[in-house]
Amino acid sequence: MDKVRVGVIGVGSMGSVHLSYLNSVEGAVLAAVCDIDEQKLKERSTQYNVPGFKDYKELLNSGLCDAVLIATPHYDHPIITRDAFAKGLHVLCEKPIAVDVKEARITNELYQSKYADKLKFGVMFQMRTSPTLRKIRELIADGELGELFRFTWIVTDWFRTWTYYASGGWRATWTGEGGGVMLNQCPHNLDQLQWLLGGMMPNRVTAVATVGKRHPIEVEDEMNAILEYPNGMIGHFITTTGEAPGTNRLEIAGDRGKLVLEHGKITFYRTRTTVTHVLQNSPESFGGAETWECDIPVRSRGPEGHKAITQNFINAILKGEELIAEGVDGVKGLELGNAMMLAGLTRKIVELPVDGDEYQQFLKDMAAKYGGKKTLGQRKAVVDMAASFK
Ligand SMILES: NC(=O)c1ccc[n+]([C@@H]2O[C@H](COP(=O)([O-])OP(=O)(O)OC[C@H]3O[C@@H](n4cnc5c(N)ncnc54)[C@H](O)[C@@H]3O)[C@@H](O)[C@H]2O)c1
Repeated sequence: MDKVRVGVIGVGSMGSVHLSYLNSVEGAVLAAVCDIDEQKLKERSTQYNVPGFKDYKELLNSGLCDAVLIATPHYDHPIITRDAFAKGLHVLCEKPIAVDVKEARITNELYQSKYADKLKFGVMFQMRTSPTLRKIRELIADGELGELFRFTWIVTDWFRTWTYYASGGWRATWTGEGGGVMLNQCPHNLDQLQWLLGGMMPNRVTAVATVGKRHPIEVEDEMNAILEYPNGMIGHFITTTGEAPGTNRLEIAGDRGKLVLEHGKITFYRTRTTVTHVLQNSPESFGGAETWECDIPVRSRGPEGHKAITQNFINAILKGEELIAEGVDGVKGLELGNAMMLAGLTRKIVELPVDGDEYQQFLKDMAAKYGGKKTLGQRKAVVDMAASFK
């Protein structure tokens, strides 16, 4: 195979972004599109001069595609992913790979037991291509911060208007989207919470979340979570879609000081010796540790963003390149999100691993309790997708 024939399933806002660059990905060619919305399907199929399918199964069966890029609403992600594997197609799935960990685990087990040796499975975590985040990950992995004590991520710059929520019937509903800010905006942050830490996961989560605090929607639009890790590290995760101007500030404190990421800039307040040494041996009562403020240089490492992830996926198929974001890895951030949701909306302490059956029941309970409380009618939104990415 010298060209991977790609079918895009779901050609709404994000699917259209993928369509716009797909034919410029080396080794890829757009082969077909699919959408249940006939109008959009017709427009995209005509625009790109490729066959269009209303039913994704017809696209999978058409023999026209070697791979699919799935950009439908969330609940369909694991179903279409598994169906595509069964038809021998590689999958690049939009985030999140599922709404709940049980579905994600079923997909992963199936993939690992039957398809991993022949098919590629990637997830669209394009923020993993950010040179800034990659630098932070390296600094942590290299032990520059020493033992980690705390991270605090305030990410309140996911501002979304009522018009945004009114622009799609599935948005901000339990049965259509499976959650709000945690399912739509935060999957990237949640992925980074484990990816930056080398896959480290908490063992306990407490949280306060609010349904429809700033928008007339039936799902959460605010989350305040505390994560406890086996090594004693504490994490705070704070997000909302209703605050402006928002903040995006990540602090990671360790035994060699504190790293801050804000406004795209990494500052490392590095202590001359370990904090523990000063704590235990300083003759002073209040004096802090001698600290050096370092601006951490970040250099470009090549292509970034959605296209870079798609290029990497194609290279993985054609040349065996290692995936930047493996589909199976998508379960970790999802589990963090599920744990925060369960903790935040039931106000109980959640131990990890999250019980998949309990989470599915929780989703049903939320739908029964809040379903129909989204009172926004349909509104047509002015969409600038570039403004939605970080
Ligand atoms: N990676 C990113 O930066 C990023 C950014 C935005 C959205 N997303 C993800 O992309 C996905 C889609 O979001 P969106 O904002 O484009 O939504 P959207 O509503 O604009 O588009 C979804 C499209 O899927 C179609 N669809 C629904 N069910 C389908 C099915 N069974 N088969 C085929 N088509 C179907 C809808 O008709 C619609 O056109 C979501 O999972 C979202 O989380 C990712």
